[in-house]
Amino acid sequence: TATEEMLTQDLLRQSLKSCQTPGETNFEASAPHVFVIMGASGDLAKKKIYPSVWWLYRDRLIPENTMFVGFARSDLTMKEIRDKCQPYMEVKEAEQERYEQFWELNCYVRGSNDTQRDFELLNQKITEVGTDRANRIFHLAIPPSLFVIVTSNIKKFCMATKSGWTRIIIEKPFGRDSESSSKLSNHLGSLFKEEELYRIDHYLGKEMVQNIIPLRFGNQIFEPTWNRDNIASVFISFKEPFGTHGRGGYFDEFGIIRDVMQNHLLQILCLVAMEKPCSTAADDIRDEKVKVLKSMDELMLDDVVLGQYVGDPEGEGDAKDGYLDDPTVSQGSATPTYALAVTKINNERWDGVPFILGCGKAVDERTVEVRIQHRDVDGDLFHGQTKRNELVIRIQPDRAIYYETYGTSYKGAKLPLAYERLILDVFCGSQMHFVRSDELAEAWRVFTPLLHKIQNEKPKPIPYKYGSRGPEEAYKKLAENDFKYS
Ligand code: NDP
Ligand code: BG6
Repeated sequence: TATEEMLTQDLLRQSLKSCQTPGETNFEASAPHVFVIMGASGDLAKKKIYPSVWWLYRDRLIPENTMFVGFARSDLTMKEIRDKCQPYMEVKEAEQERYEQFWELNCYVRGSNDTQRDFELLNQKITEVGTDRANRIFHLAIPPSLFVIVTSNIKKFCMATKSGWTRIIIEKPFGRDSESSSKLSNHLGSLFKEEELYRIDHYLGKEMVQNIIPLRFGNQIFEPTWNRDNIASVFISFKEPFGTHGRGGYFDEFGIIRDVMQNHLLQILCLVAMEKPCSTAADDIRDEKVKVLKSMDELMLDDVVLGQYVGDPEGEGDAKDGYLDDPTVSQGSATPTYALAVTKINNERWDGVPFILGCGKAVDERTVEVRIQHRDVDGDLFHGQTKRNELVIRIQPDRAIYYETYGTSYKGAKLPLAYERLILDVFCGSQMHFVRSDELAEAWRVFTPLLHKIQNEKPKPIPYKYGSRGPEEAYKKLAENDFKYS
């Protein structure tokens, strides 16, 4: 409804306001902007990037004088790109005119990511559509193997000139272990300043994830009990009811720990566990997140339960096939599609409290949530017959905080998607919801020894049936770590 749309725009405008601190972009009198989609013919571009920039343009949240340039090797016309994106754009009848205007601002350059001449042509096009004053954003929606060559070519041939700035958005995976990630970070660091780099973890753009800081530090209800004296355990869980969905080739190389746990879940853990930052400035928040990571030990095999889904002969459709039936997965692969890890944060607030991360593909439901369980009450009048006190922050599919209904004022509103918020942040120059290089290095430090052990020893993952709740051993581990499933 019209009201819902106004609320969505309100939320994004709030983000816009919050990132326009002095010195940051003032769109009123802004220079032209050129948003370049590297990998414009790909899956991410059509599903997330084109739709997000269209919504931002539709709602007049980005400067009117923004131009969009797609780049990839395929021989495509703008019409063909538009057709590919169409199913994801959600255009209402009344928006048709604006939608046409949006596509008029788009153009496509055919070129290869490793050919210098093509980058010179790309630069010419950017200059032609945006003038030599334009600010430039490059969104790298390309295979990670191309990050190095593409960023080198951007630096050599496509940087903003005159007073304009250049910002680079990079998609995960940011390496596959400490060493490869640090190599990539060093490479990027040799070309760009940290302020120019925006590493996307799209979970940081989700509404409820962004609300963890205000929830904790913006009211008096939770913070006084947010510590080891009152909290028994924290469980951060991600469940998806489908398997590798045609992405078996990619997934098999990375596995669920690299795909979801080391980034999305660890980022949530940091927000739940961190100390109060001295301000809401991006670096003050990121400093606190880094401290949490630095207080964590490296994980061992004993800390985890690994699983892999098998087909359910009685299931329907995809559920009949197990992970190993995917033709793009290597034969006999031991890549986990489910993982549960018990981590500890060795600081004064959290000493001894298990922070359990769990993620699984092809399980029984689609949910992402944080469950914070309070210690049992001393002198329990009810002799254990009451349920344990638990605060649930549900991130998806619906957004909720149990104990208290969340956000009644936004009830029913279509909330902006993670990519929409994050791309707007890049326009604004707000890095609060992006991953800084030292944060990334610490995140890899925690997981690398475990990942290497898994890679070398190939422990056999425990089979669990497609559509089940995951391996029972994971639930035993939860119980052993003071998490009571209710
Ligand atoms: P695709 O394979 O669908 O697209 C990759 C894009 O890169 C295509 O446009 C391809 O176009 C282009 N490309 C590949 N090789 C070259 C080359 N040598 N020169 C020029 N262009 C090239 O991948 P995705 O869109 O799925 O993923 C892109 C990135 O986003 C990856 O880093 C991925 O990990 C990340 N990501 C993707 C998600 C998703 O849901 N898809 C989710 C989270 C992250 P062409 O062949 O025409 O050149
Ligand atoms: C991506 C993972 O980063 O996140 C996918 O690569 C996963 O495997 C996806 O499905 C989940 O994102 P969302 O926003 O759908 O919960």
